[in-house]
Amino acid sequence: MRKPLLAANWKMNQTVSESLDWLADFNREIAGVLNNKDVDAVFCPPFTALYPLHQVIASQKMDICLGAQDLFWQEAGAFTGEISPGMLAECGVSYVICGHSERRTLLQESSEMISKKCGAAVAAGLVPILCVGETLSIREGGLTQEWLEAQLYESLDFWDGKSEIVVAYEPIWAIGTGQAATAADAEAACAIIRDNLREKGAGFADQVRILYGGSVTPENAAELMSGANVDGALVGGASLKAAAFAGICRAVFAENSQG
Ligand code: PGA
Repeated sequence: MRKPLLAANWKMNQTVSESLDWLADFNREIAGVLNNKDVDAVFCPPFTALYPLHQVIASQKMDICLGAQDLFWQEAGAFTGEISPGMLAECGVSYVICGHSERRTLLQESSEMISKKCGAAVAAGLVPILCVGETLSIREGGLTQEWLEAQLYESLDFWDGKSEIVVAYEPIWAIGTGQAATAADAEAACAIIRDNLREKGAGFADQVRILYGGSVTPENAAELMSGANVDGALVGGASLKAAAFAGICRAVFAENSQG
């Protein structure tokens, strides 16, 4: 049984003080629910908010994990503007998003770079959340499976088939559009991803958590996660409001405790 994982991707939003306010609001909303340890909640704020959030989470012993939105694959050196895996670990980070479509598209990150980032994360004891997903034209052209397989083949070069990783299926046409995939489409894509993971990590693929991302809301979260291969969600827009992300956690928690 895989434990559901809900990750909030704040993207380039929330100052340090806004992040701290958000955490206090979220903690009030969700008190007593996440303590149950049945759902993992991960927050991925901008780099600047990681350490202050970590201090609050640690001092109040909150059942919340921190994630970063990116990292660089070198540990130190002349890489202006980059952040190393060790720097993230020191800030209390345990997950890191790698290869989000916004970085693949706007910053031309290749699958080869993303694989190196994931590998560096694993080496530092962080869990990479590897993002893959197709454009609308690829979907409409009937090429979703081939696209996902190619992205996985290249981006999973780092994987030894047994270290802990998370994969997020994020169809680009569903990100920030208000038009989520159907639960059936999310399940079909996540099943393709799991089949591909089996090729590299035969005994381990069933333990890898596969998330769906793209216009997830408190209203559609439980339905989107109803497929056997969908183990959680990567949430952008709806995670900016503490009440909405808490609503997603509650919806999934309720579903999970019934099942
Ligand atoms: P969204 O973003 O929830 O706003 O669609 C998801 C993501 O980009 O991870």
